[in-house]
Amino acid sequence: MGAAVHGKTILLIVGGGIAAFKALELVRELRRAGARVLPVLTENGARFVTPLSLGALAGELVRTSLWDLEDEAAMGHIQLSRAADLIVVCPATADLLARAATGQANDLASTLLLATDTPVLMVPAMNVRMWQHAATQRNIATLRDDGITVMMPDDGEMACGEYGPGRLPEVTAIMAEITAQFGPKPLTGRHALVTAGPTHEPIDPVRFIGNHSSGKQGFAIAGALAALGARVTLVAGPVHLATPAGVTRVDVITARDMATACAAALPADIAVMVAAVADWRAETADHKLKKDGGATPAIALVENPDILAGIGHHAQRPALVVGFAAETRDLLANAAAKRARKGADWIIANDVGEGVFGADATHVHFVNQAGSEDWGASPKQAVADRLAHRIARHFSP
Ligand code: C5P
Repeated sequence: MGAAVHGKTILLIVGGGIAAFKALELVRELRRAGARVLPVLTENGARFVTPLSLGALAGELVRTSLWDLEDEAAMGHIQLSRAADLIVVCPATADLLARAATGQANDLASTLLLATDTPVLMVPAMNVRMWQHAATQRNIATLRDDGITVMMPDDGEMACGEYGPGRLPEVTAIMAEITAQFGPKPLTGRHALVTAGPTHEPIDPVRFIGNHSSGKQGFAIAGALAALGARVTLVAGPVHLATPAGVTRVDVITARDMATACAAALPADIAVMVAAVADWRAETADHKLKKDGGATPAIALVENPDILAGIGHHAQRPALVVGFAAETRDLLANAAAKRARKGADWIIANDVGEGVFGADATHVHFVNQAGSEDWGASPKQAVADRLAHRIARHFSP
């Protein structure tokens, strides 16, 4: 990683938040990768890191004000905003996101963002409530519509003691996103449909049949395809995961809703069906089933539509259809049979005897017409990246 960054100029805007100190580490990594870093520090950012430390690590003058005449003589702010190959805002505070989304130009950072035609990457970090506030989410949607990449913050414990999304992503993840900004986008112009997560099938108005699928693998694949330039529609069952950057998400609950959402997303060039769709649904009772001391209620099950098979045999079948197979025995034989039966081109076969559901790591085999490849044990993110690159190669060998 990092080769794509070599020789590039990054304008780094450091906003005012407790995560600002991590921007120093980012500067070090960027320089280590061979980038030139032009640092800009907002007034509030300077409360968390000093111009001296930022400037020393960057090996450049730190700009802080619109009104610095010396700076204007050296390089005006319009020029500054265009001298870069990429502008990175890290940390992007709720305030900076709001000002950028509404086109304000009331300090050096916001003016640079308004005056530029350079690609912009925002790396948000803020309190969980501020992140979840409708105003912030609205601002992010606006920024994305304007073509700005907004990374998802990490989940975890915050400096303020609360827990949830809002932490600055790890510096390695930020570096990966910066690298992706410069990398080739071989899937530009392609539409990918991805399903992820479980489905919930109601038994009565308050109960459902479900499974332990976390959605992590499908979400990672959606993000990896988007990073390679694909337009991605992610049809997600009920999971609490952040939507990856650049992905359009459609939330569904039941298998039938998922099937309808997938059909509505066509035409697509690529379909990757990762969801753990419930095979059966219950004949739903209109009222909550009661314990009445009599016999236990019988739940009549009805088979759900097979979404993968439906897409694999659809009149508007995507050029490349990929399914997943979770098996506890005869992994490869079952995967090959599934590939044929469901009309898929490729199957990613997963041995779920090893406790894969909900985990971050997995062990998969890639199965196509030619046979199978053991991809070994790896993080789900690595499987996603490898699959996305394999898909890209399929379209432009
Ligand atoms: O038959 P099985 O459930 O093992 O097949 C797994 C593959 O089929 C996965 O790609 C899954 O997303 C897909 N599938 C589906 N609709 C179903 C059942 C499975 O799309 N009703």
